[in-house]
Amino acid sequence: MTDMRVVFLGPPGAGKGTQTKFLEERYGACQVSTGDILRKAVRDHTPLGKKASEYLDKGELVPDDIMLNLVAERLRERDCEKGFILDGFPRTVAQAEGLEGILKDLGWGLDSVFCIQVPQGVIIRRLSGRRSCRKCGSLYHTVFNPPRREGFCDRCDGGLYQRQDDLEETIAARLRVFEKQTSPLVDFYRKRGLLKEINGVGSVEQIRSRVFQAVGEAAA
Ligand code: AP5
Repeated sequence: MTDMRVVFLGPPGAGKGTQTKFLEERYGACQVSTGDILRKAVRDHTPLGKKASEYLDKGELVPDDIMLNLVAERLRERDCEKGFILDGFPRTVAQAEGLEGILKDLGWGLDSVFCIQVPQGVIIRRLSGRRSCRKCGSLYHTVFNPPRREGFCDRCDGGLYQRQDDLEETIAARLRVFEKQTSPLVDFYRKRGLLKEINGVGSVEQIRSRVFQAVGEAAA
């Protein structure tokens, strides 16, 4: 697929970040993770980070107007001209409608929306063992995908950390938010004929094959 312009939907811990990184490597399209952008802003103590941190810590969504401005700016950057993979955006119907306006202004449309589906029990196991690299953002899991050297990234040797919102009570809040605010997007995109569902249960490699196959079929 050239100039891929796609969205990845799915509950917390579905594997969106893991799989969209593989797609970025394979297709050269830019992975835009709103969660990563917000966490970096928090780390850098920017005005956006200060506003966002109260929502992130509680597992709630950052307000739509902030998110829409952030994504509108990001998609105008040069590296998105050759395509983008949105990971974690949109997350509300208002964001999805706003995205249509942003893309119209840029003269683009969405090719497909992929939804990774995973049941709750699997999600909790995945999130409670997740570790992320502070330096390059690579994702690991203490059991399913451990690093070669405990506590350090295989790719860049950066230190690994556990996300603040991966604590048990915050995971439960994020799942409730997903059900209420984000799951209506499945119907939203189904009605537009853009939705492709992917079974997210299985090993990282199995899901990677399914994702590549779904992306390939969507492009054919
Ligand atoms: P965000 O960072 O987007 O979090 P999320 O959607 O909750 O998704 P996750 O990053 O938790 O999971 P993932 O699906 O990417 O799974 P991953 O690949 O890491 O958002 C965080 C917060 O930012 C939100 O709560 C909100 O406050 C704010 N925010 C972000 N976007 C926003 C927006 N648009 N509007 C408003 N607010 C916004 O995998 C998880 C773990 O499982 C890893 O350890 C991985 O190694 C492991 N794993 C992955 N696949 C498998 C597999 N097949 N088998 C076994 N283990 C696996």
